[in-house]
Amino acid sequence: MPSLHTPLCDLLGTRLPIIQAPMAGGSCTPKLVSAATSAGVLGSFGFAYTQPDAMKREVASVRAGTAGPININLFLAPIPGPIDPGSQRAAIEAVSRYYSELGLPVPAPVLAPYAPNLNAQLDAVESIRPAVFTAHLGECRSDRVNSMQRLGIRVGGSATCVAEAVRLETLGFDFIVAQGGEAGGHRGSFLREPNTSLTGTLALVRMIVSAVKIPVVAAGGIMDGAGIAAALALGAQGAQLGTARHFLPAKKVVHRRSRNIACWKSPKTKRCSPENSQASPRAAWPTDTCAR
Ligand SMILES: Cc1cc2nc3c(=O)[nH]c(=O)nc-3n(C[C@H](O)[C@H](O)[C@H](O)COP(=O)(O)O)c2cc1C
Repeated sequence: MPSLHTPLCDLLGTRLPIIQAPMAGGSCTPKLVSAATSAGVLGSFGFAYTQPDAMKREVASVRAGTAGPININLFLAPIPGPIDPGSQRAAIEAVSRYYSELGLPVPAPVLAPYAPNLNAQLDAVESIRPAVFTAHLGECRSDRVNSMQRLGIRVGGSATCVAEAVRLETLGFDFIVAQGGEAGGHRGSFLREPNTSLTGTLALVRMIVSAVKIPVVAAGGIMDGAGIAAALALGAQGAQLGTARHFLPAKKVVHRRSRNIACWKSPKTKRCSPENSQASPRAAWPTDTCAR
């Protein structure tokens, strides 16, 4: 079994420094979260659109099969005000032909409220007590961060620019998910316009690692073990993978080439298994590379 360990593993309670990305909208089924957690990575629920009762049910179904750590992720953005029905109909009409091309039913206009009550969702997180909570598209007040931490919940948050990372650190967050411009799906900008926060993942990770003291997790465009190795070389302590769904089971992601990372002479990489010394010269890791 390849070994890859950073201090983030101890913080999150995982075997590997990898997070199965939270993805609101149906991708993060209990089956996926359960498989991720059982594989030694942090399984995540993207519960932004999920009502508190359903959150509790889905977590209970994962806990029935595995004792591993899980992450609950919510959107912290303010709930949008009512949308003019005419504009909504026009937007649906503009994209309806794509639904027809794919043989899918054209969606009906959405009625307010457009999202579950955030405070009720946050209260549900406190009653569920997952190992980890991550905030997206906004920030938690520091009293909420502290109360989760008192319950033993580690609190992380997405940042798409340095200012957001610094803000989350100031609020007492335990770790940052540095979400680069390549990140699929929802990007978590909250202090700046999203289209002015499109720095690529590798550059963003390096900048955020230099700006904060808490652990940084790289997210965006990381598809395999080599990508994880690159992120760790830049000072990240872990990687969050979303669209690289082939990452399960874990043996596929910590594949042969990325095993070299465990031989990387960083004070932050604790374990080195003997098999890593067998790596091919092409994939060899520069021993003088240093993080932070
Ligand atoms: C369909 C989809 C939905 C997403 N929803 C969320 C979400 O609810 N919360 C969140 O923090 N990130 C969300 N993300 C971003 C992922 O957590 C992750 O940061 C991103 O997928 C990483 O980029 P990658 O897809 O290139 O690996 C979503 C991504 C996708 C693809």
